[in-house]
Amino acid sequence: MKFKDQVVLITGATSGIGEACAEIFGKQGAKIAITGRNPEKLKNTEQKLKESGIQVYSILADAAKEEDNRHMAEQTIKHFGRIDILINNAGISMRALFEDLDMEVFRKVMDTNFYGTVYATKYCLPSILKSKGSIIGISSINGYRGTPARTAYTASKYAMNGFFESLRTEVMKKGVHVLVVAPGFTASNIRNTALTADGSSQGESPRDEAKMMTSEEVAQHILKATLKRKRDMVLTFQGKLAVFLNKWMPGILDGIVYNQMAKEKDSPFK
Ligand SMILES: NC(=O)c1ccc[n+]([C@@H]2O[C@H](COP(=O)([O-])OP(=O)(O)OC[C@H]3O[C@@H](n4cnc5c(N)ncnc54)[C@H](OP(=O)(O)O)[C@@H]3O)[C@@H](O)[C@H]2O)c1
Repeated sequence: MKFKDQVVLITGATSGIGEACAEIFGKQGAKIAITGRNPEKLKNTEQKLKESGIQVYSILADAAKEEDNRHMAEQTIKHFGRIDILINNAGISMRALFEDLDMEVFRKVMDTNFYGTVYATKYCLPSILKSKGSIIGISSINGYRGTPARTAYTASKYAMNGFFESLRTEVMKKGVHVLVVAPGFTASNIRNTALTADGSSQGESPRDEAKMMTSEEVAQHILKATLKRKRDMVLTFQGKLAVFLNKWMPGILDGIVYNQMAKEKDSPFK
């Protein structure tokens, strides 16, 4: 019961990594607040967590809306009295060439992944400063290395990394811990819902999800890194290799990344 009675707020916790974090932190005795945009999915996750004996409170909130983030923080404090850990997890992806991409799609990805993180952190920070807790950002390998046909997604994750690097040093003498997690390819719903050039959902994953790290494994790593108050964490062998090679030989990695991503099913470039 390593997180007994700590209050953990997780954005976008109705599937994948967010839902797995809710379960794993909940099983360690934490009180869990979860958000999502879909009332039915939110209720299903709430029910599932309750059946596992977890204390859970769900809030319908769109990460891209500042007001929803303010409301989410207020409601969590009203319900549980405090916030110890914020996991900025809500996120969407996209796949399209930039030349074809509707700018509305670019904005939607930035609004959800980047501004969603900024707003949630802003409204939870006063309580986390009091509790000397943790702020966690679920970034991506794309926060260290861009891939073709993912311009908006890559930009949103680089922006998250920069935001947290700055914030971490701002709060380092106030006892607040900031962790940035970069999962590698993880089996989840993200590639099914990824937006195409016109904003419609891609519908199915272009990759073999069975070969990926599971969301539960990612959540286990996040739990351990939170306990150790680590500053950052890069996951999967392929992810670590990409970050390393990009640091020391980015030009060579350009070609490798292009060829790898071109092999994806229905890739918009060859
Ligand atoms: N899976 C990977 O390979 C991978 C790799 C690196 C990083 N990540 C990051 O991990 C995080 C979680 O993704 P995942 O893979 O677990 O994907 P997922 O299974 O699609 O889960 C995404 C969650 O975010 C919620 N969400 C999306 N837009 C939202 C919004 N505007 N407001 C509130 N909630 C929203 C979704 O719920 P609703 O749709 O019901 O709102 C869902 O609960 C994301 O930030 C993603 O970028 C994933």
